Amino acid sequence: MKFFLDTANIDQIKEAKDMGMLDGVTTNPTLVSKENKSLHELYSEIVEICKGKPVSLETTTNNTDVIVKEGQNFVNTYGKDIYVKVANTKPGLKAVRQLWDSGINCNVTLTFSAAQYLLAAKAGARYVSPFIGRLDDIGHTGMDLIKEIKQIFGNYDFKTQILVASIRHPQHVVDAGKIGADVV
Ligand code: G3P
Repeated sequence: MKFFLDTANIDQIKEAKDMGMLDGVTTNPTLVSKENKSLHELYSEIVEICKGKPVSLETTTNNTDVIVKEGQNFVNTYGKDIYVKVANTKPGLKAVRQLWDSGINCNVTLTFSAAQYLLAAKAGARYVSPFIGRLDDIGHTGMDLIKEIKQIFGNYDFKTQILVASIRHPQHVVDAGKIGADVV
């Protein structure tokens, strides 16, 4: 089971690495806005610390052409270990398909149902991030979604990995491990 740190804080990333816990990093605009650094400085440092491990950098529009350009720019600037984080919308999935066709990996975020997960996987996402904490927040049991996705994926040969996101507490990590999710 892999641990991706959901942060843009350099000290937290270094600490996880020092403990042997760092398998990758995911960021988002809210997380990067909390750090007092330019985006370029921050992303460069994260990629340098991660040294070959996947780093997800999030795109910021809902326009296919702009998402594709942002994604290509991320990879051209920070290298092949970048996973372009794209929101699970129709324009987003069109961008995922174009990026996939050009050899760029995507992490599809903002996913709340198995049907959305399936669409993202078929579009060519390498990771899909179901937001279980946010589902718990509104009275659902987020982990049920992970069970459902795991069952559907067990039936087919999708290469897409389940990245359990919006983790709220250690028990979420344990439960994701019992189900066999790829990443938390
Ligand atoms: O990267 C975003 C995702 O992990 C959301 O987490 O804690 O804001 O629900 P949270």
